[in-house]
Amino acid sequence: MSTTPQLDLQKKENWGSKLGVVLAVAGSAVGLGNFLRFPGTAVNNGGGAFMIPYIISFLILGIPIAWCEWTIGRLGGRYGQNNAPGIMYALWRRTPAKGIGTLTLIIPMGVYMYYVFIEAVCLRYAIEFFQQGFAERFATAIAASPGTEEISTVVGSADGFMQETFGMGANGDVFSGSMLWFVLICFLANFFIIYRGVTKGIESFCKIAMPLLVACAVVILIRVLTLDAVVDDRTIGHGLGFMWNPQWEKLADPEVWLRAAGQIFFSLSVGFGLILCYSSYLRPDDDVVLSSLSASSTNEFCEVVLGGMIVIPTAFLFLGPENATGGTFTLGFITMPAIMHFMPFGSFFGGMWFGLLFLAAVTSSISMLQPAIAFLEDGFGMKRRASVLILALFTTCGAGLIMYFSHNLTALSSTDFWCEFMMIVAALGQVLIFGWVIGARRGIKEANRGADFQIPPFMVFVLKYVTPAFLITILAMWCYSKGPERLEQMSPTIQGQAAARNVYAEEIAARFDELDQKALQAKVTDVLGVSDGVPQFVDALPEWLQGLDQQADEARASAEADANVARFVFVGVLLLFLFVYVLADIACRNRIKRTIQIAEDEGVQMEAA
Ligand code: ALA
Repeated sequence: MSTTPQLDLQKKENWGSKLGVVLAVAGSAVGLGNFLRFPGTAVNNGGGAFMIPYIISFLILGIPIAWCEWTIGRLGGRYGQNNAPGIMYALWRRTPAKGIGTLTLIIPMGVYMYYVFIEAVCLRYAIEFFQQGFAERFATAIAASPGTEEISTVVGSADGFMQETFGMGANGDVFSGSMLWFVLICFLANFFIIYRGVTKGIESFCKIAMPLLVACAVVILIRVLTLDAVVDDRTIGHGLGFMWNPQWEKLADPEVWLRAAGQIFFSLSVGFGLILCYSSYLRPDDDVVLSSLSASSTNEFCEVVLGGMIVIPTAFLFLGPENATGGTFTLGFITMPAIMHFMPFGSFFGGMWFGLLFLAAVTSSISMLQPAIAFLEDGFGMKRRASVLILALFTTCGAGLIMYFSHNLTALSSTDFWCEFMMIVAALGQVLIFGWVIGARRGIKEANRGADFQIPPFMVFVLKYVTPAFLITILAMWCYSKGPERLEQMSPTIQGQAAARNVYAEEIAARFDELDQKALQAKVTDVLGVSDGVPQFVDALPEWLQGLDQQADEARASAEADANVARFVFVGVLLLFLFVYVLADIACRNRIKRTIQIAEDEGVQMEAA
């Protein structure tokens, strides 16, 4: 009598097609990082010269880490694991494996909690454009400011709208506007897709969304490249030059290298644990080598060609160089709406642009939910409905807090900061497990199984030494250059004092300018023995100082509150790590261990070197 296998791998959920998995992974990679973060980062860090550290990071970090994640994920899937702690534990039964697995579980959750907010903003902007809302808003602002330069009025109005949308003025502001509805729609859309599962939900959605968003981006790119407008002697060609002319001197700045590596991590979604989770749904002999390269290349096309040629060149053309070098938020949510005002059929193209950003964001955000769903299902045997519900509740609380503490976007940027740090650590952990625990030679042999082409043998050296060394350097540079500043940002005393000092410094500097002439006159009148404006100023001083003290107190309180939020985020991330680690530990000792054991009893094992 034959025994019924307790772990039926055939019944496990698998991707429906190779195209499906490539589009899903590419969808996870292509997101706001490509269209908003990349252009700003590139132009502020050397333009064309930025491509050197960027390409080096792509070759030494992006491609190898993606190969590691695809291979480790597929291998973990053979042990019946779709969750990061289980996958890591299957390959290495040690505490650090569970720790790295935990990191790759909380990074996507953490990123999701703020990413979904930005996603909702994109949706709001798209609708606002299609309803001609921005056109009306800008026209009203221009009519209300006669004599002011149109560009600055439009940029100022877009700035105001962004501040209001993100609730940057004060904590809790987001909760009083219509933003909550957009966030709710995004939550429902994300969880609906996830609830439908890997094939029917994620794969089906990405198969439609990816071609659609690329088509929209290509249409916008063609429109941009064929613009024949000449503004103050600037053409779109000058805009491309502004974006891509290399500033070689920037290569000597270590910060530029750090930013290039950070961009590769965020944009390719490596170190997030997303690829790990997605690839665990592959069949044992499905190709990982070419699929990984295809997904990465799709991401690079969207990032460099589409992302790199739309935003900055158009901003340069219509708004001038001073408005074409902002950061992610400025470029995305102030500059882009302003550009659309000056572009023919701006409302239509604006709606299309933010619509494609929204789609790109959804294909990424769904991938951030799947790892936790897989963990709850594999680790605790939960059904899809229960796991989706628990994760929805959990992420609603997290996203709610991030949205509530919206003043200066402190909670959002702090979460982003710690997630980026954890990504580098997690990627290092994964590469070390691949290169040293599994063994680079054995790992590559495993990767090459069923592959459409083979990873070349020199990658053994790269994966064992070069990539880990590069990652350790990046991590050290990161801690050195960002650590002290971050510690200061979490200190209410330092932040409060600095804010108060700024108030005095700015006011006194302004007064000084104002008084320059008077001060001179006072000296002269003093010499001549005639008093003029000086006594009045001296009389006014106490009142002025009192007002200034009040302003300084307010600035101090606000900065202290922001520093406390930054601390709160740090403690929150730490507690989340500990909490999830304990859960991962419990799951690994029980259910995950049993599943792995069954898989091994059924003959699952790694390729020998
Ligand atoms: N890789 C995703 C993006 O670029 C997270 O937005």
